[in-house]
Amino acid sequence: MYQIVKARTLAEKIFLMDVKAPRVAKACQPGEFVIVRMDEKGERIPLTICDFDREAGTVTIVVQVVGASTRRMAGLKEGDSFKDFVGPLGRPSDFVKEDPEIVKERKYLFVAGGVGTAPVYPQVKWMKEHGIHADVIVGAKTKDLLILENEMKEVAGNLYITTDDGSYGSKGMVTEVIRELVENQGKHYDICVAIGPMIMMKFVCLLTKELGLPTIVSMNPVMVDGTGMCGACRLSVGGQVKFACVDGPEFDGHLVDFDEAMKRQQIYKTEEGRAMLRMAEGDTHHGGCGNCG
Ligand code: NAD
Ligand code: FES
Repeated sequence: MYQIVKARTLAEKIFLMDVKAPRVAKACQPGEFVIVRMDEKGERIPLTICDFDREAGTVTIVVQVVGASTRRMAGLKEGDSFKDFVGPLGRPSDFVKEDPEIVKERKYLFVAGGVGTAPVYPQVKWMKEHGIHADVIVGAKTKDLLILENEMKEVAGNLYITTDDGSYGSKGMVTEVIRELVENQGKHYDICVAIGPMIMMKFVCLLTKELGLPTIVSMNPVMVDGTGMCGACRLSVGGQVKFACVDGPEFDGHLVDFDEAMKRQQIYKTEEGRAMLRMAEGDTHHGGCGNCG
């Protein structure tokens, strides 16, 4: 069992938990994720790692209530436990594997949308720990939905906050801030990392393509096993079939077929939809049914 040692509410329907999971905490890196399960019959929920403390043996996750399972999860308190806490899964962010001196030569722009701020945080923290100043844009619908502002302030070189309704920071979506920084303020970036809802990542990528700014995105399609066997997290990247759980979750955003990924996300919600995917993608383990294994 994996005990929750700290639990707090970050915003409406968004919760942070520190979970005692020493083996995951020892090995995990920015960009990776875990799959958690509350009990034997519980749904497997993939969550990107928000932070970790190797000495304390804890991993921080951020949960947004989107359905019945996450609502149940949000009800967990300090002292409660998860049945499974599997990870680290996926591949770490590319820069983690590089020589920090080479990473230092690049100017990074991180773009975090809503709950996507949680997986952006450990990446910017890594930058700070390696003496790299990265600019960070955080977008939220309203001031009340902004999360991890203080934490991000501590690690970002420059932090730009924007809200859709203008209730805090500048007014508008993250794409407007990117355009303002690059086109009006003449800032130069070598690489953009954008994490948030798929629709945000799609529009960030359309803009950064226009600006000639290479962009990495973190994809969070439906996942079941998290080991590349079930096919649930299938994506098209540069015309090739990829599985977010083993080939990602980070990909070259200019190559991702976002429209297909969003459509697939919708279809996957119903049994009929999953049967249709299975027909369209082949009756194999990588056939997209997500339930055959
Ligand atoms: P949200 O809908 O509140 O959007 C956050 C910000 O994204 C907005 O404030 C805006 O600045 C930007 N944005 C949204 N639509 C945009 C558009 N069309 N063009 C330009 N910018 C746009 O975000 P939320 O409710 O926190 O997001 C929830 C979704 O994020 C869930 O579907 C969840 O699965 C996903 N998510 C993804 C990841 C990931 O790893 N990619 C991580 C956590 C959550
Ligand atoms: Fe990726 Fe099953 S979750 S293949």
